[in-house]
Amino acid sequence: MSETIRVGLGDRSYDIHVGAGLLARSSELLSPFARGTVPVVTDSHVAKLHLDPLVASLTQAGIKPLPIVLAPGEGTKSFAGLERLTTELLRANVDRGGLIVALGGGVIGDLVGFAAGVLKRGVDFAQIPTTLLSQVDSSVGGKTAINVPEGKNLVGMFHQPRIVIADIATLKTLPRRELLAGYAEVVKYGALGDAEFFDWLEANGAKALAGDAAALTRIVAHSCRMKADIVARDERETGERALLNLGHTFGHALEAATGFSDRLLHGEGVAIGTVLALNLSAKLGLSPQTDATRFAKHLKAVGLPAAIADIPGPRPEADTLIAAMAHDKKVKDGKLTFVLAKGLGHAFTSRDVPLDAVRSVLSA
Ligand code: NAD
Ligand code: GLY
Repeated sequence: MSETIRVGLGDRSYDIHVGAGLLARSSELLSPFARGTVPVVTDSHVAKLHLDPLVASLTQAGIKPLPIVLAPGEGTKSFAGLERLTTELLRANVDRGGLIVALGGGVIGDLVGFAAGVLKRGVDFAQIPTTLLSQVDSSVGGKTAINVPEGKNLVGMFHQPRIVIADIATLKTLPRRELLAGYAEVVKYGALGDAEFFDWLEANGAKALAGDAAALTRIVAHSCRMKADIVARDERETGERALLNLGHTFGHALEAATGFSDRLLHGEGVAIGTVLALNLSAKLGLSPQTDATRFAKHLKAVGLPAAIADIPGPRPEADTLIAAMAHDKKVKDGKLTFVLAKGLGHAFTSRDVPLDAVRSVLSA
């Protein structure tokens, strides 16, 4: 059982394949793009768990894989990580007709996508995401980046993959906390543009998180379909794509205020941030408070944090969070951009939000 979703971008269109057991038949999906030696870039956690079936599938099909195993963690998404990776790729004689495979979470996908984009002015790459977050979000849409001391994801480019292969069976080995963090991005899709999907998640999300293959395939495929449609209409985020940042302005501020530490994963920040965005929408009279309450209730039911008070350790102050938002890259002409909602499933972008309302939501 697998699903295929097309990202329609003219001659840069590509397919996202979603299903259980796709790694073992990845050569079939990758062979139209593979030439000569194919570097397979991954991190050491993923290498131990999921590299072998991919290497076996490629080898059986006569494709020569070259595994490149990097250290896990955000630190790898850096200039030093980029230098090391591009050096290895150049030593492997990757040329412009070749293909580079990214096997891992968003860290590997973002780094490999960027390296592929700049290597010899652009080499094709394939995304094989192995975290829920990367399957429903980061592997789709062509945003690639590294972190710099000035902030996360500030050096990067748009470079679309040639194919995305999301094998939901790889999620069986993902720590529960990481799985839940990815789920925050899934419920975000419901809140931003599909109230019926949110209804379905309320009834079936826990089943998916318990590993039910049909439910997991549905949540990954549906999320990818929603993102693919938005990216096809607004690849460069000049408008609608910004809706994908629902909960992210608050979420990034919470991540920054907690030092991008283990206290709060990105997805956990998005979970709390989405509740805050819905609370702000209610405060501004745009949507009923019951929507925010219902959304928070579902997050809590599956085990995600839903309020600032759920973050372990000292509570970040409202003014610290507002200052962090002012440094966020979504600031344009000195004004904060928020994604708000006119009820669940109806997000829109606003640059006209009174700071008092933001402060009040952050202090509640
Ligand atoms: P990650 O890549 O760090 O993976 C999380 C952890 O899970 C790592 O320790 C990794 O080794 C491990 N792991 C990965 N797959 C596993 C598996 N199947 N089993 C067991 N362990 C596994 O983190 P992530 O949450 O996937 O991605 C976060 C990154 O994605 C951030 O850098 C963020 O900026 C980026 N991101 C990018 C976009 C985009 O559009 N490009 C969107 C959202 C997030
Ligand atoms: N993660 C937001 C985007 O891809 O635009």
